[in-house]
Amino acid sequence: MVLPGLESTAAEEIEQSLGGEVKRSNDGYVVFRLPEIDASILHLRTAEDVFLLAWGTDSLTFRAVDLESIRQWTAREADWRTLLQIHHAIRPKPKGKPSYRLVAQMTGEHGYRRIDARDAMAEGLAGKLPPSWRHAEENASVEVWLTINGATAVCGLRLSDQSMRHRTYKDEHLRASLRPTLAAAMVRVAGARFGHVVLDPMCGAGTILAEQLEVGKGQISVWGGDIDASALAAAGSNLRRLGRTHLARWDATRLPLPDAGVDRIVSNPPFGKQLSSPEEIGPLYRAMLPEYDRVLRPGGRAVLLVSDVERLHDAARHVRWKRTQELRVRVLGQPAALTVWQKPGMG
Ligand SMILES: C[S@@+](CC[C@H](N)C(=O)[O-])C[C@H]1O[C@@H](n2cnc3c(N)ncnc32)[C@H](O)[C@@H]1O
Repeated sequence: MVLPGLESTAAEEIEQSLGGEVKRSNDGYVVFRLPEIDASILHLRTAEDVFLLAWGTDSLTFRAVDLESIRQWTAREADWRTLLQIHHAIRPKPKGKPSYRLVAQMTGEHGYRRIDARDAMAEGLAGKLPPSWRHAEENASVEVWLTINGATAVCGLRLSDQSMRHRTYKDEHLRASLRPTLAAAMVRVAGARFGHVVLDPMCGAGTILAEQLEVGKGQISVWGGDIDASALAAAGSNLRRLGRTHLARWDATRLPLPDAGVDRIVSNPPFGKQLSSPEEIGPLYRAMLPEYDRVLRPGGRAVLLVSDVERLHDAARHVRWKRTQELRVRVLGQPAALTVWQKPGMG
């Protein structure tokens, strides 16, 4: 499961990092096959959650007959014994009697309730889980999820837990702090290589810098700053354990940095509604981009996540950057765009 909009980025990570074969991707999920499954699957950075797929369909009818299909698919389409074995190999069973939890999520108008779909899945599972297992709403050792979105449904055993999407480095949260999987996707499309310098001029609590440090293995220099002292303190505390970061308090429209010194800029400027007045966003972008252009080396790349994409395009007319990619995502319920820009090289 991925944040809608990040399917292609996650698919690429699955192929490159795990050697997976992507079968399909759609609206918030990517289905893939691995030659061998082990715990490395839990190290995917752009995924919110990872499941062993039991069954999937694109042909729900939205009518109550779907409940019978869900029951039958759950009973017949999946080899639960094998799935449970793989699950136990990756997530060893805790001591004591194992417990399980059934979760159903549903979006779109259907002629049945989410709870009916969950009951249908529970009926299909009858006899599939060991009888000694007890049902538990909290800290269950095994979770079976059914996710229904329009005519699509997927059912699977959850391999990940909360730490996959929340990470363990986030001690300090700020209100506008990014989802780590989105920051990971930005870092991925930025594609910094060993020896590069990566800059987030408006780093907030430092989520983008943290993701860059985690994949850079000490071989990429990470620089960040913010105008707000409390944001910088949060970034300092989140990043301390991850590696060396150069942090400074500054105004991103007047950076105390030399010309052409950074290879990548990866940043999430404030959204209009985070400013005292949304009208300030245009002037902020127009002041920010020439400064980013100055510090970015020729041939460098900028990845900017914004809500006001048209204003960003307006501002980009004043620098000679070329937009190479744009992914539509939602951030805190608002539409946003992950934009990728290339600065022309020398000559
Ligand atoms: C959306 S938040 C960034 C969140 C960050 N990516 C994170 O995950 O925590 C935008 C940040 O831009 C900072 N900011 C706004 N105007 C700025 C400016 N002119 N110079 C530097 N930082 C600025 C704000 O203080 C805020 O921390």
